[in-house]
This record gives sequence, structure tokens and C-alpha cells, in this order.
Amino acid sequence: MMERLDFAPLDGITKVVFRRVWSQYFGGVDRYFIPFISPTDQHILTPRDRRELELSHGGAPAIPQIMTCRAADFLWAAEQMAELGFSEVNLNLGCPSGTVTAKGKGSGFLAKPEELDRFFEEVFSKAVLPISVKTRLGIAEAEEFPALLDIYNRYPIACLTIHARVKKEKYRGPVHLETFEQSLRNSRNPVCYNGDLRTVAEVRALEERFPDVTAVMIGRGAVADPALARKLRGGPAATREELMAFTEELFQAYQAFYGQADNAAQRMKEVWFYLIHLFEGGERLDKQMRRSRGPAAYVSIRSAIFAELPLRDHSEGNLI
Ligand SMILES: Cc1cc2nc3c(=O)[nH]c(=O)nc-3n(C[C@H](O)[C@H](O)[C@H](O)COP(=O)(O)O)c2cc1C
Repeated sequence: MMERLDFAPLDGITKVVFRRVWSQYFGGVDRYFIPFISPTDQHILTPRDRRELELSHGGAPAIPQIMTCRAADFLWAAEQMAELGFSEVNLNLGCPSGTVTAKGKGSGFLAKPEELDRFFEEVFSKAVLPISVKTRLGIAEAEEFPALLDIYNRYPIACLTIHARVKKEKYRGPVHLETFEQSLRNSRNPVCYNGDLRTVAEVRALEERFPDVTAVMIGRGAVADPALARKLRGGPAATREELMAFTEELFQAYQAFYGQADNAAQRMKEVWFYLIHLFEGGERLDKQMRRSRGPAAYVSIRSAIFAELPLRDHSEGNLI
């Protein structure tokens, strides 16, 4: 039985402006994960970091995520988060980007299990907040995970969120459900499932296959169908009017936040990269949207989408 629904951190998409507007229109999640902050050894929270750090949205708490492989930097960041009023801090062990993993951070940290163990020993003995972890199954193959799980099992991780892919797979290809199943059985810490949940039917199928899963995290699926979490709670699907109002308000909010229409249009294009899948026959306008430059082109393609395309009751297609 699913008891908790988390909104995944999507860097560049589910930042503070998106979370504010999305939570007003749709909501339905129990917690919001803030895309990662990567502390440096200077130990400074930049104004950019700070403006992302909103404690809650629509009554649901937000959890900040830290990406580092240095215990001292993690501990410093956790202290800052405690001072700001957060009640948990999350460690990013999933990011597959080459620039990140080359520095041994994100999923790159999974390549150094002994260092990871030492890192945990230090942060769990000193941290001022509960620590949760968001991980992948390994670097190159899912068979790496049992050894990593042995390490995780030695520490009181508040929740182990598993994106059931390895680093090499980025966001593509099938998720490794067998490995997830074993992990669920063998984890001493609470587990949350993450990866490729796009529709109510997919979430229900996961619950049926893994009745012991009590928490799921959804990212792209909740941008592609903004009412997904609400529907999972028994609420209504998104209407065309609602989506028009949501995308308009989000565009306005981005303009106010960035003080620049160009930047706001770019952010909206990234939302539409997923949202277009909720519309029937969106391929042509999707292509136009991806190629478009500037706010005027954005506004005109958005209008065409709402004027021309029928709305689906769930999103379809690959979200990559
Ligand atoms: C554009 C984008 C940005 C992401 N940013 C983060 C991030 O900041 N921190 C993190 O842990 N995962 C990040 N992820 C991974 C997601 O949180 C999630 O694990 C992944 O998308 C799989 O879940 P989904 O299929 O429900 O989206 C990102 C993924 C995408 C596609």
C-alpha cells in the first residue's frame, strides 16, 4: 500500500517557481525534493542556492538535496539546512552527468564503496538532521547493488530512494525491477521506489507487484501529467482550462523571477518537453517548440497546442 508520494528533484525543472505554481494548481504529493545543491569547500550558500530553499509548498514539506563526496562539506550543508528549518537532508548518489561523476560525486561515488563507507561513518556520527539517500543501482550493471546495499544497511538512512537504473543507463531503457525487488527484501532501511512511473495504471501495477512498497517518488511523470499525484489520491484529471491557466501562470512567474522573458520561455520549453505527451498528436508542435527561440515563438506554439490538440487522460510515450 502506497503511503507516501514524493516529487522527485528535477534540476532545471522542479525548481522553486515550478514547485510553488504546481503545488497551487495540482499538488497531491507528500513531499517535494529540491534539486541538488553542490557545496564547495568555501562553505557559502549562494543567493541562488538560498532562493531555492523554500521549506514547504501547499502544506507539504520540501527536502533539500546535497551532492558532494566530502563529509565535511555535507556536514556543513546539513547544519545550514537545520538552521533554515528543514527536517531532513538528502544525499545525491544518482546524478549520472559526466562532469559530476568525474569528480566522484552523484552516481560517481558508487564506484568507490570504501570511500562511501567512510563518508557515511563520518556523516552519520555527526549530522544534526536525519539523512536520506537517493541512489542508483550501480555504475555499469545492476549486479553491483547488493554490495552497495551492504554498506547502506550499516547506517540509519531515513529513507533509501532507489532509481532502479545504473549510471551508464542515464534515464533510458527498462528499469531493473528484479534487483529492486531483492533490495526491498534486503534493505534494513525504509525504501522508496523511483523510475518511469507515468500513469495511475503504472503506479497501481507497481503496488500490485510490490505490496510492501510504501513510498514512491515520481519526477518526469508528474510534469508530463501535472495531475498525476492528485489522481493517485482519487482526485480529478487535469482539464484543458486548468492546464492553460497553469502554464500561463508559470510563464508569468518565471518572468517575474528571472526578470527576463527569454529565460522564462526557455524554462517553459523544458516543461513542455514532458507536458506535450498529455496531448494527442503533438509531434509536429513538439518539434517546433524544441526549435523555437524566444518568448513570442513560445507563446504562439503554446496557443497552437491548446487550440489544435485533444487532451489525453494520461500521458503517453517515452519521457526522454
Ligand atoms: C532533467 C532532470 C533533472 C534531474 N535532476 C535531479 C536532481 O537534481 N537530483 C536527483 O537526485 N535526481 C535528479 N534527476 C533524477 C530524477 O530525480 C529521477 O530519479 C529520474 O528522473 C527517474 O524518475 P522519473 O522517471 O519518475 O522521472 C533528474 C532527472 C532529470 C530528467
